Amino acid sequence: MKTRIFIIGSGVVGAATGEGFLKAGHEVTFIDVAPARIAELAARGFDVRSKIDLSGEPESLLFLTLPTPNDGHRYDLSAFEAGTTAVGKALAGSATRHTVVVRSTVPPGTTEGLVKNTLERHSGMTANEGFGLASNPEFLRAVSAAEDFAHPWMTVIAGRDPQTVERLRDLLSPFGGELRTFDDPAQAEFIKAAHNIFNATKISFWNEMWLVAQKMGVDLDPIAATVARSAEGSINPEYGIRGGAPYGGVCLPKDTQGFLGFADTIDVDMPLLTAVVETNDRLAAIVNHEVEAAAHAAADQLRGPAGEARVVVPAGGAGAVDDRSQEHESA
Ligand SMILES: NC(=O)c1ccc[n+]([C@@H]2O[C@H](COP(=O)([O-])OP(=O)(O)OC[C@H]3O[C@@H](n4cnc5c(N)ncnc54)[C@H](O)[C@@H]3O)[C@@H](O)[C@H]2O)c1
Repeated sequence: MKTRIFIIGSGVVGAATGEGFLKAGHEVTFIDVAPARIAELAARGFDVRSKIDLSGEPESLLFLTLPTPNDGHRYDLSAFEAGTTAVGKALAGSATRHTVVVRSTVPPGTTEGLVKNTLERHSGMTANEGFGLASNPEFLRAVSAAEDFAHPWMTVIAGRDPQTVERLRDLLSPFGGELRTFDDPAQAEFIKAAHNIFNATKISFWNEMWLVAQKMGVDLDPIAATVARSAEGSINPEYGIRGGAPYGGVCLPKDTQGFLGFADTIDVDMPLLTAVVETNDRLAAIVNHEVEAAAHAAADQLRGPAGEARVVVPAGGAGAVDDRSQEHESA
């Protein structure tokens, strides 16, 4: 079925998204505010406009592919908000029910916060009633944008209205790859953020290791290539992904701490490895506290009215923490 699609913000992601939908046979209009970008897309024969206008348009999907750059330790959502405001005003002028899809990378909670509020304020309508609302973050890489859009390995769709989610599934599933749906848009937004942060952390890990290898005069590349095939965290996607479960056992605490001391002896700073140990210690303390509190609550419940213990419940402690730890079996 041919779908009417608007791309709001026609840069790297917007152009790849719109072109992908065009090739799939949909009717696409690109919106952008930059005259140079508009001219560029027009020269390529696309329907490109400087302003969104939904009057007389059939039911459509509006993909927000607006920029969300960082400004220090925060996202600058000013352009994103301006584009969303324009969409809200356009919705107000349309008698048809349209669906807004957030494809930009945004902080978790933005779709049901800033986007929903802005659209409702400017359209005078209620989300999931007057207009549909969903999150569908983009995972493409800038270097292979069109190719990645056409052949996604993961598609994530989230929305409160199951019909909106199904509508997007129908639109996106022909592109192939794994498709996962959620009912909370914040989960989809979190997935995209975690996806990028995980990649950034892995890259930083090997760069920190590279600094150690450089200092030792050792070639890191064959080492990293071998660990990429030996470490369970690298070869098993499910390994280590359970939250609230710090690493335990013998080897991981021993070798993280030990290597920090070793790096010290050759004068290499390892801020990431230091943070790994600190993060795990902090989690272990939280989990330990929770387990102890749960054990005490259970013990209290099992005590008779006179305070007499009927059943002996073991306290939490190291054993209890180990029950929730993610251990590395090999030492
Ligand atoms: N570039 C990537 O590889 C990539 C991959 C995945 C996700 N993302 C995310 O996708 C979003 C878009 O990124 P991008 O790389 O395509 O950005 P971009 O800068 O290439 O494109 C953004 C476009 O939006 C236009 N624009 C700005 N304000 C506008 C407004 N009010 N109305 C209409 N158009 C407006 C700009 O002129 C520009 O052409 C960001 O959230 C980004 O984090 C980017």
